[in-house]
Amino acid sequence: MAKRKAFITGITGQDGSYLAEILLEKDYEVYGMIRRSSSFNTARIDHIFGDIELLFGDLTDGSVLNRLMRTIRPDEVYNLGAQSQVHVSFQVPEFTADVTGMGTLRLLDAIREEDLKCRFYEAGSSEMFGQVAETPQTETTPFHPRSPYGVAKVFGYWITRNYREAYGMFAVNGILFNHESPRRGPTFVTRKTTRAIGAILRGEQNELRLGNLDSKRDWGFARDYMQGAWQMLQADEPDDYVLATGETHSVREFLDEAFGYAGLDWNDYVKIDERYFRPAEVDFLLGDASKAKEKLGWEPTVRFPELVRMMVDHDRERRHTEEHYV
Ligand code: NAP
Ligand code: GDD
Repeated sequence: MAKRKAFITGITGQDGSYLAEILLEKDYEVYGMIRRSSSFNTARIDHIFGDIELLFGDLTDGSVLNRLMRTIRPDEVYNLGAQSQVHVSFQVPEFTADVTGMGTLRLLDAIREEDLKCRFYEAGSSEMFGQVAETPQTETTPFHPRSPYGVAKVFGYWITRNYREAYGMFAVNGILFNHESPRRGPTFVTRKTTRAIGAILRGEQNELRLGNLDSKRDWGFARDYMQGAWQMLQADEPDDYVLATGETHSVREFLDEAFGYAGLDWNDYVKIDERYFRPAEVDFLLGDASKAKEKLGWEPTVRFPELVRMMVDHDRERRHTEEHYV
């Protein structure tokens, strides 16, 4: 039997690298779209370079997306590519809307144009809940995004549902709460913290500048969430699912756990810096993944303290960690 073909946008990112590994383990042919960069941007997938096919493209370039869908004719498409930094989205709102919102439409429409019968996964976000209307947040909680990024993701969510309803596409939204790992981008608060801890332990850094320590997030492990994304595309019917741990912690609690594990007191190192505050904040997120548990049999395998330890251990052992993602 011919191998199933999967196409991933955002394959160079945290989630894309885990998803590519998962799909290779399941014997898929994996195609990934990468962007041209003036420096290397494939550190997270270098270890599987020989097993995957990488093709240049961009979510802002519809003609390339059309060509890739026509030539690859994938069975499954995972749209993970995005300008994914919430804070940055306030500085480049139009670009964020173009990549993170319109990019989803371009890819869906490329699939429709080619009349592909493939299954489509959209990387939706708990940022869509924003100023939360209820707790915990589920698939039926109304959206109230608080950033250009969150607004763009709401567009991605609805255009995915629209293509499902209008054209009968097997198109699903994962509504994923924050998920982290040793491969997490270095500007997100968890990884920024664990990298700083590594540098402090090596005597290379003596302060960590952060913004709002009071916000709370439901933090899980990225690989678990990509396993869930794959499960969503194996279901009998297309549907939308929340993935979350059901536990919430403040940034301050993350600092307690991470610095404490390293034998340090964060109060000795953390400085509050106004530059890291956002024009509008998401204060509190807590997800209820009951639907994914019941219908897909999905379960998160890594809890908060274990996740923190995994990241601290990685960053204290490795020096220039962007060159050593695996
Ligand atoms: P990430 O590490 O920031 O990776 C983003 C990926 O998108 C990278 O491969 C990046 O390529 C690519 N990309 C950026 N702009 C692009 C463009 N114009 N065209 C094509 N690709 C582009 O993000 P992540 O944490 O893996 O998240 C994956 C997806 O899930 C994103 O859509 C994110 O918004 C969403 N999400 C993430 C979380 C989370 O907690 N991690 C939660 C909910 C939803 P370069 O490497 O070249 O920059
Ligand atoms: N990045 C960052 N840097 N965040 C900080 C800092 C800092 O120096 N100091 C405090 N924070 C706070 C932010 O204000 C926010 O309340 C919280 O830490 C988490 O910020 P991030 O780690 O940047 O993640 P996020 O929750 O804004 O967004 C991530 O999760 C979303 C899912 O809810 C991203 O991965 C999004 O792409 C994703 O959709």
